[in-house]
Amino acid sequence: MIRLTSARKLDRTDVLIVFAEEPASKDARPLHKWDSLSGDASRRLAAALEKENFRGRVGQTFVWHAGDSHAERVLVAGLGRAAARDVDITIRSAGAAAKKAKEIGATRVVCTLPAPGKLGEERNAQSVALGILLGSYEFDKYRQSKEHARAFDGVEVLGAPDRALKTAEIYARGTILARDLVNTPAGDCAPRHLAETARKLAGANVKVTVWGPKEIEKKAMGGLIGIGKGSDEPYQFIMLKWEGKKGAKKIAVCGKGITFDSGGLCIKPADGMGTMKCDMSGAAAVLGMFSVISELKPECTVYGYIPAAENMTGGSAVKTGDVLRTASGRTIEVNNTDAEGRVVLADALTIAREDKPDEILDLATLTGACVVALGDQVAGLFSNDDNLAAGIEAASKRAGERFWRMPIVPEYRELLKSEIADIKNSGGRWGGAIQGALFLQEWAGEQPWAHLDIAGPAFSEKGLPFCPPGGVGFAVRTLLEYVTAQGK
Ligand code: BES
Ligand code: ZN
Ligand code: MN
Repeated sequence: MIRLTSARKLDRTDVLIVFAEEPASKDARPLHKWDSLSGDASRRLAAALEKENFRGRVGQTFVWHAGDSHAERVLVAGLGRAAARDVDITIRSAGAAAKKAKEIGATRVVCTLPAPGKLGEERNAQSVALGILLGSYEFDKYRQSKEHARAFDGVEVLGAPDRALKTAEIYARGTILARDLVNTPAGDCAPRHLAETARKLAGANVKVTVWGPKEIEKKAMGGLIGIGKGSDEPYQFIMLKWEGKKGAKKIAVCGKGITFDSGGLCIKPADGMGTMKCDMSGAAAVLGMFSVISELKPECTVYGYIPAAENMTGGSAVKTGDVLRTASGRTIEVNNTDAEGRVVLADALTIAREDKPDEILDLATLTGACVVALGDQVAGLFSNDDNLAAGIEAASKRAGERFWRMPIVPEYRELLKSEIADIKNSGGRWGGAIQGALFLQEWAGEQPWAHLDIAGPAFSEKGLPFCPPGGVGFAVRTLLEYVTAQGK
């Protein structure tokens, strides 16, 4: 990750990043407030922007060879319309600027801050900083030639409060841990790798426990066993705990940790299997959160639970029609081996409830249906509790991540009726994301619970302004915003 520092005044730099708003009317020029440029440079730049038909749209960038006394080059980043600006858009805009700065081989980069607007000074600076940190991320562990290597290893942010940079740095580090895990190919990121990563996060107030196959069998977690037994890689169950203040709220967070989803015997076609190393993105979000939680010190106690397994087709793989007995005693008819996430999460929810949390969250790349419904930039939010749902929605807005509340339709529970077991794991195509939530609800029980279906936004095949193609590290920041806001 690159380094951010706060600069009080502008010295000569190679690249200076400035932001421009998209004007509300079609004919107006992009709006700007470039105090850092001389009056003359500012006028010449405005003329150049006009020539290029630069409108200031989010993600749009323009590089101008200024030859100014302050900057060799000025990189103008579009901010979109003032009325629409929020954390998400600010991150996108700054992310696009950082990406561009890398592309043009910037050696020294200074970034100015746009007018804070309704974000407020600190959140504005924090969002710009996050955009820069996330937008300059690259996953080059597997490249021999580092020609992609970044030209600059730090960015100075003009006039940024130190605290905003510090928080952005912590959020980015958690997000990047999740990205790295998702991007690591399944061949190198099996359940034991997730467990190893978790163990390294143990520290003063963070406890980590890992169960291997023996303990999982002792706990009779038939769901995790059933899904994991078709692989040569042993399944693992990972537990983390952040010890908050005595008597404070207890929040449990379960993350789906399918390190590769071949679909099992109901094997996926090659097209659908290509990106299935991302099927542990829920687990990655939990680990990303725990990797920085001790720096944010939330008042509440936070538990993490990760059922980790590979969904494969080995000789002992679960067969369609098999019935699995989960740790709760409830049985599942596996009528589709590709609906594996809910089966392993069933056991995770049961173990989570043994710790008597006040709230349970689960995060999972659970259904393609949710991607059909909301596309690849919005996650589905399902909850049996309006308060909890509102809390997550508010946290996600502060984090700049998009969730959309979806209904849990009790009438659809019928689709999951089994002739032979307590429930079956798939009820056909219609309302697939809702079926997933209904299934999980059986194990979550009555206490406040929210299910976050992140199948769309966890992985970006084409990349985003603040993220190269691959793992996005989605939901880490929403989780951090959520847990730090509890007990206040
Ligand atoms: N891991 C997939 C869901 C997924 C799809 C994640 C696309 C990311 C991108 C999940 O295990 C799955 O295969 N779900 C099935 C469920 C069906 C068999 C009921 C699906 O969505 O098709
Ligand atoms: Zn899956
Ligand atoms: Mn699947």
